[in-house]
Amino acid sequence: MSQRPTRVLTGITTSGTPHLGNYVGAIRPAIAASRAPATESFYFLADLHSLIKAQDPARTQRSTLEIAATWLAAGLDPGKVWFYRQSDVPEITELTWLLTCVAGKGILNRAHAYKAAVDRNRADGEDDDSGVTAGLFMYPVLMAADILIFNADKVPVGRDQVQHIEMARDFGQRFNHVYGDYFTLPEAVVDENVATLPGLDGRKMSKSYGNTIPLFVPPAELKKLVFSILTDSRAPGEPKPVEGSALFQLYQAFASKDDTAAFARAYADGIGWGEAKQQLFDLVDREIAPMRERYLDLVSRPGDIEDTLRDGARRLREEYAIPLLAQLREAVGLRDLSNVVLGETKADEADDRPPLASFKQYREADGKFHFKLVEGERVLLQSHAFDAPRDAGQAIAALKRGELAVADAPATLGAGVAEAEVRAAIEALAAADAEKAAAKAAQP
Ligand code: TRP
Repeated sequence: MSQRPTRVLTGITTSGTPHLGNYVGAIRPAIAASRAPATESFYFLADLHSLIKAQDPARTQRSTLEIAATWLAAGLDPGKVWFYRQSDVPEITELTWLLTCVAGKGILNRAHAYKAAVDRNRADGEDDDSGVTAGLFMYPVLMAADILIFNADKVPVGRDQVQHIEMARDFGQRFNHVYGDYFTLPEAVVDENVATLPGLDGRKMSKSYGNTIPLFVPPAELKKLVFSILTDSRAPGEPKPVEGSALFQLYQAFASKDDTAAFARAYADGIGWGEAKQQLFDLVDREIAPMRERYLDLVSRPGDIEDTLRDGARRLREEYAIPLLAQLREAVGLRDLSNVVLGETKADEADDRPPLASFKQYREADGKFHFKLVEGERVLLQSHAFDAPRDAGQAIAALKRGELAVADAPATLGAGVAEAEVRAAIEALAAADAEKAAAKAAQP
């Protein structure tokens, strides 16, 4: 297999206005990661996801613009990474349906966000699904489509999203199992070192607590907010502990190691809160100011952002999404009818021959390739691991041609399966292949 760069994909829900916590916890590290060598990065605005919560069209539009401009202002380079809007790639929605048809409903029942809604309803004595939209329920399937459509290897997410990545793996695996090996199974990457920033009141900075500092407020507003950070009543000259000081944690998130150490010394030396706040404001504003300027410029030219996003989606569709969907449609049988070979139609298969076994190739989480020979739900033969899909494919071909004996294959028999049975299944399969090839050759 050609060594393609690792694909890293992140979705950004387009709701709300970005704040310092989003910047430190998500935007800044993601942009740093987007510059890593040997990676192909995908950043997209998950605007379809945002509809699950927000149903105010004007706000949806404004938030999409603000978030796109924020990422560009913070340094995302659309010439180097894929930057696009989910709703500009209709293949994602189409794939959502294909995945919906293999996704286990029971798995979706266990999704945290849905379960939390049901638990709230039960606590309130309501119907389980009261006020729950099918959109909320299907959220993980849309997210799986986002990831699987570009065969992402790694998905950096917060802890709360890990379950969704596991579901994406599950749906991808089920699809691969039924239709052949189309999807890479993605891995969640949770950065344990990422800072969660405290908000104005010392609790985690979050829109739901109303304690945020929006990223691009004017400097005077930023200053006012910084000065409203909760501190204790220690007077100037009194030593102050850095532990549990929201002000200190905010400072640390923007300062070098040396400056942080100096700030800690100032705490020990009894710096006054007013002076400490002034220093924090200066520090934050120094990092934010150039971005704020770019941001204001960008939002004043929304048409350019629109063009950037459309261009990203257009190239991405041409390169990946459209060709993949063509393959998937073929795989599931949404096919051009003019090519039907009579020998292959369902009606003709309905003879009294036993059902054919089939080889399935797939990739495991460890990146190794495997195949198995299955007959309905029964596994007749299970291969060992191969480093490359080609090796797995060659072993299958050799088995079918009779060049590789079942006994010599790098594989083990399924539980309770006799070798003779496997041989017979492979012979029947080879015969059916030959028959199909002959029918095809006989076509005008
Ligand atoms: N659900 C993610 C969040 O709330 C956003 C998202 C949508 C996403 N699609 C994705 C993240 C695909 C990673 C990959 O943060």
